[in-house]
Amino acid sequence: MTGLRIENLKLEIRTEDEVKPILKGVDLSVDAGTVQGLAGESGSGKTMTGLAIIGLEPPTAITSGKIMLGDTDLLQITGSRLNTIRGNRVGMVFQDPSTSLHPQLSIGSQLTDHVRYHLKISKSEARDRAVGALERVGITGGLATLSRYPHEFSGGQRQRIAIAIALACDPELVIMDEPTTALDVTVQAGVLELVRRLVDSLGLAVLFISHDLGVMSAIADDVAVMRHGVVVENGPSSQVFTNPHHEYTRALLASLPGTTSGPQTKGDLVRLAEGSQDCEGGAS
Ligand SMILES: Nc1ncnc2c1ncn2[C@@H]1O[C@H](COP(=O)(O)OP(=O)(O)O)[C@@H](O)[C@H]1O
Ligand SMILES: [Mg+2]
Repeated sequence: MTGLRIENLKLEIRTEDEVKPILKGVDLSVDAGTVQGLAGESGSGKTMTGLAIIGLEPPTAITSGKIMLGDTDLLQITGSRLNTIRGNRVGMVFQDPSTSLHPQLSIGSQLTDHVRYHLKISKSEARDRAVGALERVGITGGLATLSRYPHEFSGGQRQRIAIAIALACDPELVIMDEPTTALDVTVQAGVLELVRRLVDSLGLAVLFISHDLGVMSAIADDVAVMRHGVVVENGPSSQVFTNPHHEYTRALLASLPGTTSGPQTKGDLVRLAEGSQDCEGGAS
């Protein structure tokens, strides 16, 4: 498994009468088998960083720098080669599972279409792979589950299905942009626990984007803090949260309420996740 290395990533958006710098030299790396957090206030450039990695930045954006996935510079490839990498080598999970799930298609056809497109395998192989992908995220029921539709599942389960699709082709890197932000806190803990288990068991590299520092402290091995299009601080989660070096990180932490309802440590997270299994049981 390889990781991701972003060097001096700049992105500006050109309109008729202005050039708007969005990313101003981002440096960031995500090692295999780890969760690299990307935190920072709204508008700091977190989502744009994630989109630039997979070549989904707005068409008016101009980029420079390097985005190395193993030996491949993702900024240098376009068209069908980029399409192959997206899905095959890099998976994506967004805040709202409806971004990745089509409401009118069964989850089975969405999963099998996805893996057949990327892996060129037979229908029956694709069905087996789809069932395996769902089991991996805790959605059981075998082949029968494949004929069900997104609305038959709870919000937490839909996000698990979106994660199953992101992982179905065994990517090296998964970008998760606010994946638990729309979920209740107990369901959130269950999804975070799943992400941790997948990272540990599959050796995935995960770029985990969130504005929520409670969630971040529960999941990230390392945390980068972004402000105005640059990473101002980056280090092990334990250091960034207990002994932040940058003034902006200190201000961000100080702005948190004294007691937060979110999970604060990996221990809290596991306890919450254990308590949340009932919520994540069968379909709703
Ligand atoms: N399609 C777009 N066109 C122009 N500017 C955009 C577009 N999308 C985002 N931006 C700007 O880019 C900056 C970073 O946005 P974003 O990456 O979404 O922030 P975050 O995810 O950290 O909240 C913001 O100033 C935002 O207004
Ligand atoms: Mg965002």
